[in-house]
Amino acid sequence: FGKVSKVVCVGAGYVGGPTCAMIAHKCPHVTVTVVDMNKEKIAEWNSDKLPIYEPGLDDIVFAARGRNLFFSSDIPKAIAEADLIFISVNTPTKMYGRGKGMAPDLKYVESVSRTIAQYAVGPKIVVEKSTVPVKAAESIGCILREAQKNNANLKFQVLSNPEFLAEGTAMKDLANPDRVLIGGESSTEGLQAVAELVRIYENWVPRERIITTNTWSSELSKLVANAFLAQRISSINSISAVCEATGAEISEVAHAVGFDTRIGNKFLKASVGFGGSCFQKDVLSLVYLCESLNLPQVAEYWQGVINVNNWQRRRFADKIIAELFNTVTDKKIAIFGFAFKKNTGDTRESSAIHVMKHLMEEHAKLSVYDPKVQKSQMINDLAAVTSADDVTRLVTVETDPYAAARGAHAIVVLTEWDEFVDLDYNKIHDNMQHPAAIFDGRLILDQKALREIGFRTFAIGTAPDQAYNLFGTAGY
Ligand code: NAD
Ligand code: UDX
Repeated sequence: FGKVSKVVCVGAGYVGGPTCAMIAHKCPHVTVTVVDMNKEKIAEWNSDKLPIYEPGLDDIVFAARGRNLFFSSDIPKAIAEADLIFISVNTPTKMYGRGKGMAPDLKYVESVSRTIAQYAVGPKIVVEKSTVPVKAAESIGCILREAQKNNANLKFQVLSNPEFLAEGTAMKDLANPDRVLIGGESSTEGLQAVAELVRIYENWVPRERIITTNTWSSELSKLVANAFLAQRISSINSISAVCEATGAEISEVAHAVGFDTRIGNKFLKASVGFGGSCFQKDVLSLVYLCESLNLPQVAEYWQGVINVNNWQRRRFADKIIAELFNTVTDKKIAIFGFAFKKNTGDTRESSAIHVMKHLMEEHAKLSVYDPKVQKSQMINDLAAVTSADDVTRLVTVETDPYAAARGAHAIVVLTEWDEFVDLDYNKIHDNMQHPAAIFDGRLILDQKALREIGFRTFAIGTAPDQAYNLFGTAGY
């Protein structure tokens, strides 16, 4: 393999777009082309309004685009010219057939592998950027070796290089990663391919933070990293229920526990449950892998992380219903936030979808506001878990939080957007039905100040204030 000067990324999504923008930004001597089968998405990447919202992304894309960063729908041409190809396509949980609801769907990864086999004309380093189960590189390699048999000019090495960026902080994470992980074969050519990819990252990542391993360790480490992170959230969320029942405060417990340097203070924020396209999918993928390997105890252990998450969402919805006098039928409830976390417009697996579904089953009238999520996205997400009719009947989408709360019996905070902290809650309270309640699923609001205004307040992991708690923990 020669020196890499042309990088191609197949998949212009939340990972492919930002990652390649960062490579183009940090490696002016490398030409980076991002391709996708979705032509509209490519057109958006080439427009003034990029298809994803990510702080800091616009600046980097607008500076590099047309210089050494290109977005294209011509996949065959890009593949033919590339020295190194990232596969960065989606690997969602399979919703049919064998492994339904558990295994990741690898059809897009396989289809890209076949496209590479078809259009490659010379040596290529193929890099698995998508999150995949252990041994996926073997399947990609098998498809590529078949093409090699018919064309002596072809030569492939498959590497694993999982991505650890988090949405909302993707550009910071890419610019200053805790580590970059590269897995490859230990053959001479394997090591050479790894060295080429290391050379790309070395343009901005200190060498000691670039970890090289065998391919399978790299693939597995990605699943394990996400499983550990998700596990911390389920751990703290499980304790939030104990706090609510006892008078302990979850933020105080998290602080006290996290001060132990062996435990650490990150990822201990209790919430209405983790969302996003990765955690549930990757933990389920690990569970499925363990089941396939006949390790039922390990599978059951990790399945517990998902079970607690689903329970937390349900528990929060049940709390809202119980505290609104055990009926939310026809009551207007304002929903603050629909994205799965702040600073993103992404709604995949957002807990908001699940909490709203539970409330819609009780015929609540929901009025939603989110600063970054499009109305059509919310409608589609909710219709997928209820029905289009229910959504039309029960959901309105507002472009302003004050309008969402006007005439409502309660406000439910589901995403921790900073702007929710600074709203004029006096004004909001004046325009609501009384008694007015606030349910903080993200622990961002000042409960005491809200109570002084006159709100009944309920927060995850906080024992209800007896003066305002009419039903105690009944039905909870
Ligand atoms: P995404 O859905 O945003 O983007 C994937 C893109 O791939 C889509 O635009 C789709 O059109 C394109 N695509 C699919 N099949 C194709 C094909 N055969 N040819 C050309 N284009 C094709 O997905 P994402 O969030 O960027 O995730 C990609 C991978 O990275 C997944 O495996 C995911 O688990 C992993 N990952 C995601 C994140 C994250 O925060 N989103 C973080 C780390 C890792
Ligand atoms: C995650 C991983 O962090 C990242 O390394 C991986 O590459 C992709 O998956 P992401 O899903 O984008 O990233 O966001 P993350 O910040 O991990 O949050 C995931 C969910 O957990 C969000 O819903 C967030 O609100 C929730 N969360 C996070 C908590 O509830 N409490 C916490 O303490 C941290």
